[in-house]
Amino acid sequence: MDKNFVKNLRNRFPQISFMDQKGESYLDSASTSLKMDIVIETLKQIYETSVSNVHRGEHHLSLKVTAQYEQARSDVANFIGAEADEIIFTRNTTEGLNFLSESLKSFLKEGDEILITEMEHHSNFLPWKHLASELNLKLQIAPITSEAELDIPAFEKLLSSKTKIVSLTHISNVTGVINPLDKIIPLVRKTSSFIVIDAAQSISCISLDVNKMDCDFLVFSGHKIFSPSGIGVLYGKKSLLEKMPPYQTGGGTIFKVTKTHTEWANSPAKFEAGTPFIEGALALAKVLSFLKAEVNFKEVLNWERNLVRLSEDSLKGIEGICFMGSTNNRSNILSFIIEGIHSSDLAFILAKQKIALRAGHHCCMPLLQKLNLKTGVVRASFSVYNREEDIKALKTGLVKALDILKA
Ligand code: ALA
Repeated sequence: MDKNFVKNLRNRFPQISFMDQKGESYLDSASTSLKMDIVIETLKQIYETSVSNVHRGEHHLSLKVTAQYEQARSDVANFIGAEADEIIFTRNTTEGLNFLSESLKSFLKEGDEILITEMEHHSNFLPWKHLASELNLKLQIAPITSEAELDIPAFEKLLSSKTKIVSLTHISNVTGVINPLDKIIPLVRKTSSFIVIDAAQSISCISLDVNKMDCDFLVFSGHKIFSPSGIGVLYGKKSLLEKMPPYQTGGGTIFKVTKTHTEWANSPAKFEAGTPFIEGALALAKVLSFLKAEVNFKEVLNWERNLVRLSEDSLKGIEGICFMGSTNNRSNILSFIIEGIHSSDLAFILAKQKIALRAGHHCCMPLLQKLNLKTGVVRASFSVYNREEDIKALKTGLVKALDILKA
């Protein structure tokens, strides 16, 4: 592992030096990542010199920012191997999934089935659950194994000619388990189902190519990949986007509208109602272009997985600790419980010791119910700016927290 690679990247996150000075550790990147310096520079430059609206003006500022916004779309497309007009800017992953559950309605009829998995985040569960009850569809939920991995034979059995949408996460935000999409997607392709991938957790640690993956739709949030919160991406195959109605309507979505008739614009304009988060899109594109040019994602995942392994080794001697998910198939997340202790109590005392991590149900109540975890799990999540010092702090903090809670 090239330590300079990580050292150099670490320097690109201004909040790290701020936290270093205060002796703080950030182990909550699965919730939201720290922001790169280029994000701050991009926002500053726009707010100081270039504020204007896109696709709504003839003046020089508007034309310039419109060109930059469309270039940002191309850069984002390039990052995931898509075409520019297959990229819709959204607010986040959640909005992308709500968008799909609304816009795909026109392809569905009573009795059709939607297949998700037991490890889905509420964002990839609730939109489909509500769509199923609204249209009288069947929501199938593929089980996980005792190692919290997808039970692929059981998943395959649930696929049929009735399956019209399969939506699953690439990486579980609770266990860090990586779903083997190269095995799963070919199974779905034997049916006529659409394939939706929730890449919220994988976008920052796995190099994604939507064509190689062979998915129909893929969604992610900028805030999980070192960019502002409030900007997200929905990728959709062009042939499908053309047939889909808009999720929201309003300014920018039409070719022509009269009192009685509406003619929608082509995608992506049809799907971007109202003034978008322009500066967010530009900042996201700067980050993704940088990562594409400079960063090897295999090294990123190796670095983060190594930190997860070292954490597990360091913490495994703690009495009553139990780690979630498969040891051999974890990405950048290590979640655990300590018998007899509430996860929120642990997180609270760790926070007092300047360790930021998340505890609770992580917006995955059905998964926690399946695992019979009534008091939540503690989750440490790692990114490119973390290092072994964070693990030492976590271990010391945890031992101290247990002393306090068991006293
Ligand atoms: N989905 C984010 C998480 O897992 C917010 O924490």
